[in-house]
This record gives sequence, C-alpha cells and structure tokens, in this order.
Amino acid sequence: MTTFPVTRLRRLRRTSGLRGLVRETRLDLDEFVMPLFVGPEALTNPELPGLARHSVETLGAEADELERLGVKGVILFGIPEEKDEEGSGAWDDDGVVQRALRELQGRNLVLITDVCLCEYTSHGHCGVLEGEHVDNDATLELLARTARSHVEAGADVVAPSDMMDGRVAAIRDALDDNGSQSVPVLAYSAKYASAFYGPFREAAESAPAFGDRRGYQMDRANVREALRECELDVAEGADVLMVKPALPYLDVIRAVRERFDLPLAAYNVSGEYAMVKAAAQNGWLDERQAALETLTAIKRAGADLILSYWTKDLAQWL
Ligand code: PBG
Repeated sequence: MTTFPVTRLRRLRRTSGLRGLVRETRLDLDEFVMPLFVGPEALTNPELPGLARHSVETLGAEADELERLGVKGVILFGIPEEKDEEGSGAWDDDGVVQRALRELQGRNLVLITDVCLCEYTSHGHCGVLEGEHVDNDATLELLARTARSHVEAGADVVAPSDMMDGRVAAIRDALDDNGSQSVPVLAYSAKYASAFYGPFREAAESAPAFGDRRGYQMDRANVREALRECELDVAEGADVLMVKPALPYLDVIRAVRERFDLPLAAYNVSGEYAMVKAAAQNGWLDERQAALETLTAIKRAGADLILSYWTKDLAQWL
C-alpha cells in the first residue's frame, strides 16, 4: 500500500466537481415520502411546517404543489372528528383518510396510508384494550378492516405502524380476500418505543391517555430483536421493511440492510426534524445543511427510501 506523500486523499476533495464525481451516497427525490396530516380542520404549524394539518379540502392544493415540486410519494395520517374505545373512525368508509384518498385520486403520487388505531382511540393506544393491556389478537381484525377500507378508497400502499404480532399476515389475508393482491404492505417492522415521536403525537393528538407504548413497540436497546421482527414480517408477506426512528437507529438500518434483500425504508421521525428546526430557529445551526447531513446518513446506513418531513423542502433544495 502506498502512503503519504504518494497518496494524498485531499486530491479528490479539491473542487466541488471532483467531490461530486466520487460521492458514494446521493439523495434522489424519487426515494422520499412526505407525511401529510389530515383532520377536521386545517391548522398551520409555523414552528414545524412539515407537521401542519390539512383538511380534506386543503389537501388537494398541497398535493398539487408537492406534485409540481417533483415529490413522488405521500403517507397519510388521519385525525378523526371523534374518537372511541375501539377506534372505529379508522375503518369508517367515510372517515377522514378515506375521504382524503378519494380527494387525491388521479394525481401522479404514490398514496401510502399509515394503518394504526392510536389516532382514533379515545385512550390513544394502538389497539383495543383488555383492562390496561392492548389485546393483540382482537386488534388484528380491526387493523385488517382499516387497511381494506384504505385500499377501497384508493390507497396504493398500506403501512401498519401498530406493532401487533401477526398484523402483516392479517392485513395481507384481508387484502387478498378482497381482490387487492397487488397492493404492497410496507411494514413498520422495527418500530421502537421512542421519545422522538413527541411532535407527531401533538399534531396527531395520539398520545396515550395512560401508560406508554412499551408493551408493543420495541425496546431501544435491542437490535437482534429487530432482525426477528423483520424476519417475521418477511414470512408474513411484507413487501418493504421499515426501521423507525432513523437517526438514533442507524446501526439497526445497517443490520437489516445486510440481512434482508427487501427494499428498506427508514422513518426520519418528527422529533428528529423538530430538534434541527428548533436549533436552527435559535440560530445554532444551518437547517438545510443539518437536514442534508441527516438524510445522507440515513441513506448511507442502508435505507432505500426515507419518510421525512423535509421531503417538501428537499424538493426545493436538490
Ligand atoms: C402511529 C404512528 C406514530 C408515528 C407514526 N405512526 C406515533 C406513535 O407510534 O406514537 C410517529 C411518527 C413521527 O414521530 O414522525 N402509531
């Protein structure tokens, strides 16, 4: 091996052109998905514009703008007018996400829906309760019903985020029985119980009324368990795996990438976005550079597609 002074790694860093030629990881808008919140009324969020809430009526204009900017995919989260014990608003054919899906038809956007009950239950947990415990098996049928209703309203992809055991199989079965064999399931396979969901829960009004989600979301200390979650989701028929959050779990993204050949998504969650925004608003860092560095790190770790609140900004930055 040659060493200094023959070898000088700075030679390829000298100009922006040279750096571009040898760059190993690139960001491409095609692999980004913009989360969109839709509720009974539009609410702006000046501190966190990516977490603003649309109404079904204002959503169309936002989607037009995203499409014009070149964004290719969105994931929808619904905030219903009313919540109940079971979360029945989730599978209401006239529910907020279902109406939003009908509103968004005919555009050149991949419509992904988050399949979960926490935004729809009065207690804020991701499934039906049996005492203080979320009843796994009773929840599966409700998730399957929700996914089927989203697909009937026009969803292109369904993404279960509840972390119940067996949900991918339950959803796959329900879709296939309904003639929707061609709709892929993007599984939130390794979803950790995380402090970084805070701003999302504010926007989606989905914080649990008691307790926390550690009885179903993963323990932050575990990586082998994430691989088992992925293995089960593959066996149950998942089409895309996902790790969430992204930035504090880059090692998990890398481990999943090395073990599985399925496309891998990563969710750059609300808290990851909010902490950069807050620091930038204080003048402590440059938002654009910090965002590009964060997203590049997630891709470098092995993600193929990224769900990020920066997607709209990215469309203007790239
Ligand atoms: C629903 C869901 C959550 C997020 C995505 N889907 C919240 C949670 O599990 O508490 C979080 C996304 C984010 O923070 O950006 N279960």
